Amino acid sequence: MPLNQPIPSLSGRTVWVVGGSTGIGKALADAALLQGARLVVSGRQSQSLAEAFPSDRVRQEVIDITEQGAAQRVMDALAADGWLPDLVFWVAGDYKPQPIAEFRVEDARRVLETNLLACYDGLRALLNHWLPAAPARAASAAQSRFHICWFSSVAGYRGLPLALSYSASKAGLNAMAETCFVELKPKGIDVSLVCPGFVKTRLTDGNDFKMPALISIEEAAQQTLRGLAKGEFEIHYPRRFTWFMKFLRILPHRLFFSMARRSLPPPKEQAK
Ligand SMILES: NC(=O)c1ccc[n+]([C@@H]2O[C@H](COP(=O)([O-])OP(=O)(O)OC[C@H]3O[C@@H](n4cnc5c(N)ncnc54)[C@H](OP(=O)(O)O)[C@@H]3O)[C@@H](O)[C@H]2O)c1
Repeated sequence: MPLNQPIPSLSGRTVWVVGGSTGIGKALADAALLQGARLVVSGRQSQSLAEAFPSDRVRQEVIDITEQGAAQRVMDALAADGWLPDLVFWVAGDYKPQPIAEFRVEDARRVLETNLLACYDGLRALLNHWLPAAPARAASAAQSRFHICWFSSVAGYRGLPLALSYSASKAGLNAMAETCFVELKPKGIDVSLVCPGFVKTRLTDGNDFKMPALISIEEAAQQTLRGLAKGEFEIHYPRRFTWFMKFLRILPHRLFFSMARRSLPPPKEQAK
């Protein structure tokens, strides 16, 4: 039995991609359009949204998710215009690899605000509109349940080197998504969690280490949609890499720490 209502196609759905101007979100938004969904797409810059989606079939909503109340404003506007989304991909995220000695509190704060705290703001906005409408929708058609799909990362499975705030933010999001699933499923709202390995985007272009099993944004989008079609809760890919990352979770601390330490680049002074 699938954990969620399988979504074999996005046709007929109103899909909101939060963080859809570039990267994995852009590929998902393209796929949603191709499948005939009504698409709302968001990012911080109107120009990059307009360049990415010149089509008038797409509604563009400029939003900085770290601004408190911004998600609520967008949901209110969409609902008022008959564009209430029934499937939301919450993709926006921030990442900058950094040795711990160089970390700055303001960077950590920004990563946690973008990757975790903003998700609460988004969740509140969705629930304000979805909870009153969910029972009626769930009763009328099995296909029309609401669905929130959170984008996390395998970096949330354990505390990874060079990812002081990123790993913590994604671990928090993983836990948050599990709580959401347990409590929202009986209310007619499905929840899924996407944990990609390495995907080639501007976020990973800054990595100066070898990224195993690196995939394209198009493959990431297809794997996400495949997971939704199967009704999975956790959608993780590419499996040749993510199963290894899952294995790390069950290793005793001593073994994990030793493997993680060996993956660190040599200290700068030694590298010269
Ligand atoms: N790439 C990977 O290897 C990888 C691996 C695991 C997990 N992930 C996760 O997958 C998600 C997408 O990553 P990506 O690599 O595709 O990133 P990306 O190419 O940088 O795209 C991020 C998207 O989010 C938007 N965004 C960022 N901050 C925002 C904010 N404060 N408010 C509103 N929109 C914002 C960006 O648009 P604007 O800049 O216009 O605002 C952009 O559309 C992230 O959650 C990331 O943590 C990525």
